[in-house]
Amino acid sequence: MNDDQGKNNIALAERNMGALMKIRERFEREKPLKGLRIGMALHITKETAVLVKTLQAGGADVAVAGCNPLSTQDDVAEALRAEGIKAYGYKGETSEEYYKFLNQVLDLRPHITIDDGCDLITEIHLKRTDLLGELIGGCEETTTGIIRLHSMEREGALRVPIIAVNDNKTKHLMDNYYGTGQSTLDGIIRATNVLFCGKTVVIAGYGSCGKGCALRARGLGSNVIVTEVDAFPALQAHMDGFRVMKMEDAASLGDIFITVTGNKHVIRPEHVARMKNGAIMANSGHFDIEIDVKGVREMATEAARVRPFMDRFTLSDGKEVYILAEGRLINLSAAEGHPSEVMSMSFCGQALACEYLVQNRLENKVHLLPEEIDEAISRLQLEVMGISIDKLTPEQIEYLNSWQEGTS
Ligand code: ADE
Repeated sequence: MNDDQGKNNIALAERNMGALMKIRERFEREKPLKGLRIGMALHITKETAVLVKTLQAGGADVAVAGCNPLSTQDDVAEALRAEGIKAYGYKGETSEEYYKFLNQVLDLRPHITIDDGCDLITEIHLKRTDLLGELIGGCEETTTGIIRLHSMEREGALRVPIIAVNDNKTKHLMDNYYGTGQSTLDGIIRATNVLFCGKTVVIAGYGSCGKGCALRARGLGSNVIVTEVDAFPALQAHMDGFRVMKMEDAASLGDIFITVTGNKHVIRPEHVARMKNGAIMANSGHFDIEIDVKGVREMATEAARVRPFMDRFTLSDGKEVYILAEGRLINLSAAEGHPSEVMSMSFCGQALACEYLVQNRLENKVHLLPEEIDEAISRLQLEVMGISIDKLTPEQIEYLNSWQEGTS
């Protein structure tokens, strides 16, 4: 590997993260995070490196650990460490090491946490409550983390304010949709080199991530089937032109299965038993629980790694099925995660959420960032993409603010 690979990758990400770089320029001038310690558990990618450097430019002392044992880009982590930045983690770390690295981040005694999946906040609430005194609040990057935080809030267990960065429009309607759509297929293709056209792709979950995956699979010429548990997204999938059915019915039809539900054991041994010979399963949800990998391992008569990120399981009837990346996030395990352009918008949200936490005293709840901040991120992104949009005329503003004018 080129010794400068990590550095080069970070520079490439900076080039494509114009909106975040504009925030960095302002942070450099204004130092809104001066004296703050920020502890992060995010996928250690070139895009995360750009966020780390942006928070540092704002005056913060930052430590980062990975948020998934398979997602750290080693060249990037190395490049950060070479600059003296506290970056803990490597691709392929064990679960014990994963928690050790999270705790090394917590040893910084952060004022603010940035989580992708809520592991830092959970660790603080369960095992490191001594840190709560200095903690101003946390930011959460992903839907799975937000679900955990809402259940903490419901149980009255949440002891700090959290900003749900995931819920910014410039995050979940961009990153989850366009980012996951592209990076998931990228991960499956890099892991297998499978041809998508003509294949039946079963997508479990029709939230923003599922919608993105379905759109891209269709774009590559696949026949897409969607499985859902909620009525409205199931209806949306049907109206979008996809077949919608139960997993037990889709199991025997699919060539490639993608889970993006945020829930547990969406593909179980009883489904795998019905699959075609050669079926491929991949997960792009945050945790490695969507495919019951243990159950599949137990029902198999033989298991073998046929290439990196591709395990083959032989079943008792002689059929073979494949699970990619051990059921962990395929897009960050076998590929590089979302492209920099979408991560730029997500991480503008993180940088501005840190600033917001410092400037506002908030209750111990899960909060949305004000709409104006989300809107400012959209405007910044349009600006760096060189796109101009119309302005309301005074007449239009008056019309929108009035109610008297109806049918003419
Ligand atoms: N989540 C998905 N893609 C990512 C990326 N490229 N960097 C950090 N987090 C991500």
